[in-house]
Amino acid sequence: MFRLDERLEPMFSLTDDRLIDKMAQTLNTVLTSLEQLDSLRFIIRHLGERHRQYGVLPVHFDLVKEAMTRVMACRLGEHFTPALALAWSGAYDEIAAIMIEGLQAEEPCTEGADMDISQ
Ligand code: HEM
Repeated sequence: MFRLDERLEPMFSLTDDRLIDKMAQTLNTVLTSLEQLDSLRFIIRHLGERHRQYGVLPVHFDLVKEAMTRVMACRLGEHFTPALALAWSGAYDEIAAIMIEGLQAEEPCTEGADMDISQ
């Protein structure tokens, strides 16, 4: 991913295996529960919301997809069939769309939270 766009590197405080494990684990949970995508929607949306703090923009999702797809194609070789590529692409797009929904959601309004409205 950093080879595709080196400007992304400073966004990551963890570039070691812990982050990769966490991202992979989340992606795995989501991909294995695709049939229940509706019940996961809230969690995925919230994950997208958290990505706002990391400085992520909607346009970055295509880049990450490209990086992940290249890694999968390279690792899986001939097992990365056109059918698998298509299924992976569709699944990623669905997840990314929900994350982007969360990313673009209005920030909760906290203004006035400390105001005394008792009178
Ligand atoms: C399907 C897409 C993605 C999934 C499943 C995913 C998942 C995750 C998870 C599980 C974390 C750990 C922290 C948390 O739970 O809040 C994380 C952190 C992070 N992700 Fe993603 N992510 C995705 C897309 C992206 C994209 C497009 C970017 C843009 C470059 C990105 C940048 C980051 C950054 C900067 C962090 C924080 C790293 C740190 O604290 O060092 N992610 N992501």
